[in-house]
Amino acid sequence: MNIILLGPPGAGKGTQARTLVETRKMIQLSTGDMLREARSSGTEMGKVVAAVMDRGGLVTDEIVIGLIREKLEGDKQGGFIFDGFPRTLAQADALAELLAEKSETLDAVIEMRVDDAALVARIAGRSTCGSCGEVYNDTSRPIPADGHCENCGGTEFKRRADDNEESLKVRLMEYYKKTSPLIGYYYAKGQLKSVDGLASMEDVEAEIAAILDA
Ligand code: AP5
Repeated sequence: MNIILLGPPGAGKGTQARTLVETRKMIQLSTGDMLREARSSGTEMGKVVAAVMDRGGLVTDEIVIGLIREKLEGDKQGGFIFDGFPRTLAQADALAELLAEKSETLDAVIEMRVDDAALVARIAGRSTCGSCGEVYNDTSRPIPADGHCENCGGTEFKRRADDNEESLKVRLMEYYKKTSPLIGYYYAKGQLKSVDGLASMEDVEAEIAAILDA
């Protein structure tokens, strides 16, 4: 089963993808994570990517489609979760082609609906474990009082360079201009399902499970 998690920055895509990896042995393909890896490589491409990400813009379709193409060559286990990809109509068309080449299907596109005020609060309070990437939130999922990550016991936590008010404004604008048209695109293809991303993490997880089991 291959699915897309679609939603604005802070909608909870990464949080739910990590759960699906655990519960269904799916493979999370997060273009955000891949690009953060590329930027830390220090290559010329990494430097270009870092500048775009820090200001909240979208990296070129060519780069991200290339990253996804490479990952589709690997093991697919319980299927792929596309997290943060596609983000433009060109990326959506490219994904359809890549899946067709592999005789794979796209089984569901899950739109996570949230309002902008909640997104700002979520992003301002987000931190991740420096060792395993587990996602925490100052309000909804605080770092355990003993300072150890629940998943791996790590003690270093970091905040993302683009999690600031200035770049969030640009990220939201990019989402509404370039990514939200995908909602209509997948609706017209009969693949769109929506969940209430404002619900608790457990309730969102249950809504997604119900869609995947239907
Ligand atoms: P990316 O890493 O994909 O970031 P994003 O889309 O902005 O999404 P986030 O990771 O910010 O949010 P999320 O929805 O995963 O939320 P999370 O689960 O962490 O992309 C970063 C950048 O890379 C882009 O700006 C762009 O430059 C570039 N890029 C990436 N993909 C690209 C592409 N395809 N094309 C071009 N450029 C690309 O949750 C957020 C917080 O809320 C956490 O603290 C979490 O604990 C909390 N939370 C989650 N769920 C709930 C809940 N139900 N209730 C309460 N709190 C919750």
